[in-house]
Amino acid sequence: MSVYHIVFSPTGGTKKVSDIFTASFSSESILIDLTERSRDFSSCSFAETDTCIVSVPSYGGRVPDIAVTRLRQMNGNGASAILIAVYGNRAYDDTFAELQDVLADSGFSCIAAVAAVAEHSIMRQYAAGRPNAQDAETLTRFAENIRAKMEAGSLSSHLNLPGNRPYREYGGVPLKPAAGKSCNRCGLCADKCPTGAIDTATPSQTDPKLCISCMRCMAICPQHARSLNKALHAAASLKLKKACSGRKENELFL
Ligand SMILES: Cc1cc2nc3c(=O)[nH]c(=O)nc-3n(C[C@H](O)[C@H](O)[C@H](O)COP(=O)(O)O)c2cc1C
Repeated sequence: MSVYHIVFSPTGGTKKVSDIFTASFSSESILIDLTERSRDFSSCSFAETDTCIVSVPSYGGRVPDIAVTRLRQMNGNGASAILIAVYGNRAYDDTFAELQDVLADSGFSCIAAVAAVAEHSIMRQYAAGRPNAQDAETLTRFAENIRAKMEAGSLSSHLNLPGNRPYREYGGVPLKPAAGKSCNRCGLCADKCPTGAIDTATPSQTDPKLCISCMRCMAICPQHARSLNKALHAAASLKLKKACSGRKENELFL
């Protein structure tokens, strides 16, 4: 029996959550990074005795399209899946409904789920510093709880998760990072972009159709050369202020 840690985490918040959870669930795990463009995900095939911890961020209350595409290429073969939806303190809406459907279609058996909060990757003032020590404690407890229930064989095969079908409409956000004068064309952003939206030769050019506004290019640029339109960012922050305020707790579903 192997434990796989399958994660889509452009700016690292989702991975922080799933690292804490996975380390408490098992001392050994195999990482599969869903942001890697060059990887052939159709070669990811699992056994019924495997456990796959699948972590995604919520984008507009949905699973990011590119993560859906890559998960659909995998072959679950009846492996158990623990779903982790990470969100920026607004809401995760239909993320679980969509993730559960995608994983079931790919042959996984969904046995448990965790909703957790991480710093909002576009508006970093919301859920700043999360996951924190208090979150680490809950996530560790959840992982131990699921592990104990799996060992006792007492998990239900019908996992009821919140969410609507059809899923909430999501057409992306109008915030696309652009390169400024300090860009020295090192190419790191182009190399690490999960969708290949940035041109390697001219990184100042981003394909708006491919860009999913994941903010990875901004987060990793060594020159801090990439930024968002300040007025649009301020307007979006104001619009979400109420919805993103107040601490939201992590939730466990069994
Ligand atoms: C394009 C986009 C859409 C997002 N939509 C939501 C949302 O609907 N609800 C929410 O609470 N957080 C939302 N967030 C925040 C992320 O879910 C959260 O910050 C997550 O931790 C980002 O994952 P990462 O750090 O692994 O990239 C969104 C972030 C991005 C980039």
